[in-house]
Amino acid sequence: MDRKKVIAGNWKMNMTASEGAQLIADLKANCDGSCKCATAPEVMVFPPFTTIAAVQEATKGTPIIVGAQNVHWAANGAFTGEISAKMLVEMGVTHVIIGHSERRQYFGETDETVNQRVKAALAAGLKVILCIGETLEQREKGVTEAIIEKQVRWDLADVTMEQLDNVILAYEPVWAIGTGKTATNEQAQEVHAFVRALIAKIFCPVCAGKIRILYGGSMKPANAAGLLAQPDIDGGLIGGAALKAADFLALIKAAC
Ligand code: PGA
Repeated sequence: MDRKKVIAGNWKMNMTASEGAQLIADLKANCDGSCKCATAPEVMVFPPFTTIAAVQEATKGTPIIVGAQNVHWAANGAFTGEISAKMLVEMGVTHVIIGHSERRQYFGETDETVNQRVKAALAAGLKVILCIGETLEQREKGVTEAIIEKQVRWDLADVTMEQLDNVILAYEPVWAIGTGKTATNEQAQEVHAFVRALIAKIFCPVCAGKIRILYGGSMKPANAAGLLAQPDIDGGLIGGAALKAADFLALIKAAC
């Protein structure tokens, strides 16, 4: 199955509106002839909510997709500090990250709330990047597959086969995020293959062939080619290296 690769930059809580616009300007300025491949992978950026409008403006006329880092499950209501799918859709946002490990670790997200967010986002017509991944302790205990299976089953509960077309998965081992430690190509491929087989079991074999599974966790120009060459790795969700134009461009090229 020919799956279009994805290079997605998760800016986390970095980049004010003006800094975000500048980063896009730097990407455009440095995207010379050798960067024609920029349309080969789907390129996405996920700025903080307050930076989205400036980045949408700065990316006009480019194929860069601008998404959000989270979404609440209710359409509106007394949920201080949250943002609804309706709000994102109205401002032209098409993609949203859900279930990032930092949300799970620091902000009390559970598989249940992740599932509610996924369902609301899909119902509103948003495309979802759903993040899953084990902690170091879980890996050392040998329960990586059990944890991943629990996350996939629960986070995607009640999602239909048709809706799954609008889901991209991101396998992000928690121990590799922002630590400089990357999963080896083999470690990552092993989990990606497991996830794909799981999707075949839960949904259908064709669904498994179609779904894109990104790797995330200290992906950078130096290790991207090896990871992206794995048969079940369809791109990257990139934190640190997405904040520097030269690194992000190198990652785009590595996915060509
Ligand atoms: P990192 O972050 O590339 O800085 O490790 C990845 C992520 O958290 O999505």
